[in-house]
Amino acid sequence: ISADDFEYLVSKIRTIPDFPAKGILFRDFMPVFADAKAFSILMHAMEAALPVPVDQIDVVAGLEARGFLFGPALAAHLGKGFVAVRKAGKLPPPTKKESYSLEYGEAAIEVESNIITEGQRVLIVDDLIATGGSARAARNLLQACGATIAGFSFVMELDGLDGIERLGDYPTSSLLRMP
Ligand code: ADE
Repeated sequence: ISADDFEYLVSKIRTIPDFPAKGILFRDFMPVFADAKAFSILMHAMEAALPVPVDQIDVVAGLEARGFLFGPALAAHLGKGFVAVRKAGKLPPPTKKESYSLEYGEAAIEVESNIITEGQRVLIVDDLIATGGSARAARNLLQACGATIAGFSFVMELDGLDGIERLGDYPTSSLLRMP
């Protein structure tokens, strides 16, 4: 994508200081999805930045909630299926579950047990990686379902939290790195 397109895309990411808590610089992607041009640039930029060739990906997995906003769009753009990694308690059984710790307390995610076929190569996507806790949990969960992790794609990586380093040795891309 061109430098102008990249600049246009970045201009649609809104930054809100002290939300949802004091000291957090919140990055809001909703204006990107609301803008046809920015959304299209995002799809093309994600495709251009794929961490592995597209023919080495069988399915795209997105993390609830914001991975649900562009994961299915990216999957369709790439001609792939989409697997939903949901917050625990939403999907009908049988499911597999993985718990992980947050800054405060615990969270758990689930996928439907038979949604992945053994050896399917999965690209895990989310809008933003901070400490990477939810992305690591998704990796473990999808592996427990028989998936091979093809790689990870993020729109933004937060500086200084080592989220990507903590994912392990997988092909990974992010379009932007910001504080
Ligand atoms: N998730 C974790 N940190 C975030 C941030 N700074 N902005 C938006 N989402 C986040």
